Parts: sequence; structure tokens; C-alpha cells
Amino acid sequence: MGAVPYNWILGACEKVKSVVSCPVATVGRVVSVEAGEKILEDGTADIIGYGRSLLTDPDIANKVENGECIRECLNCNKGCVDAIQSRRYLSCVLNAENGDEETIFIQPCTETKNIAIVGASLAGLEAARVAYKRGHTVTVLKNQIV
Ligand SMILES: Cc1cc2nc3c(=O)[nH]c(=O)nc-3n(C[C@H](O)[C@H](O)[C@H](O)COP(=O)(O)O)c2cc1C
Ligand code: SF4
Repeated sequence: MGAVPYNWILGACEKVKSVVSCPVATVGRVVSVEAGEKILEDGTADIIGYGRSLLTDPDIANKVENGECIRECLNCNKGCVDAIQSRRYLSCVLNAENGDEETIFIQPCTETKNIAIVGASLAGLEAARVAYKRGHTVTVLKNQIV
């Protein structure tokens, strides 16, 4: 899905909208809240479906209300589609809590540590985010590529 254009279902949505009188939803790489609002403002769809965006950050609606930063889905399919196609549990490379909500969640640490994360790419930054949310003091060391 990373290879298909943003809003790739929207053309079909417009055609459906032209022949029905009920509200029509679109889905498929809308990704950001801003992109969804633009579609609604243009009137090309009445409802926006967010799929993977909600796997990455299920708090999108609350964060919009509170003006908080939202983690955006990469459309990489690595944690979600690849996992279920390989009969593994659903996951997300940008959301360590994704999967089984009853067993996978960030818990406060019992002992605060100073943690150095070496590498500031996806895995490193997600590890830093989780460690910080657990209560640790985190320093991210960025690799210098020469
Ligand atoms: C893990 C996963 C499972 C999905 N399972 C189904 C499914 O069973 N049936 C279906 O019609 N679409 C399924 N989809 C497609 C989504 O409903 C959605 O159309 C697609 O993810 C594109 O929207 P998005 O770019 O907002 O993720 C699945 C998507 C993901 C990521
Ligand atoms: S693994 Fe996460 S970031 Fe990657 S496509 Fe799936 S939901 Fe999006």
C-alpha cells in the first residue's frame, strides 16, 4: 500500500457519490487529519475512514481536540499487514502498545534509570518514547554518517 497514491480510493468514492443520495465514506492512505479535512471541505467524501493511522496513534481524535502532536502512519505495512499475513499478532512499528490491549501496554518503571538510545531512527525513537513514558531519563545519541 505504500506504493499507491495518497487518497487512492477517492476517485471511486466520487463516482459512487454522484449516483447515490446517502453519505459516502472514503478510506485508503488519507493518513493525516489535515488530508481528511481537505477532502471533507472539497465535498468529495462525507466520511473519512482511517485504518492504519489509528493503529499508529489511536488517540488521534483526543489529540486533535487538545492540540497534541500525532504520530503519523508510515504506510510501511511492516508491523500490521505483514504480521497478520504471516499469522502473527497485529502490531505497529510506531506504536509499541499496538496488538492485544489486555497484555501489551506501557507500564511505569519500578526503578528509574538513565537510558542511552544509540541511533535515532524508527526503532530507536520508539524505544526512547516508550522508555520516557515509563519514567526513565532518556538520551538519544544520533549516528553520524560520514
Ligand atoms: C491489519 C489490517 C487488516 C485489514 N483487514 C481488512 C479486512 O479484513 N477486510 C478489508 O476489507 N480490509 C481490510 N484492511 C484494509 C483497511 O480496511 C483499509 O482499507 C486499508 O488499510 C486502507 O486504509 P488506510 O490507508 O487508512 O490504512 C485491513 C488493513 C490492515 C492494515
Ligand atoms: S506498521 Fe504501523 S506505521 Fe507501518 S503501516 Fe502499519 S500501522 Fe502504519
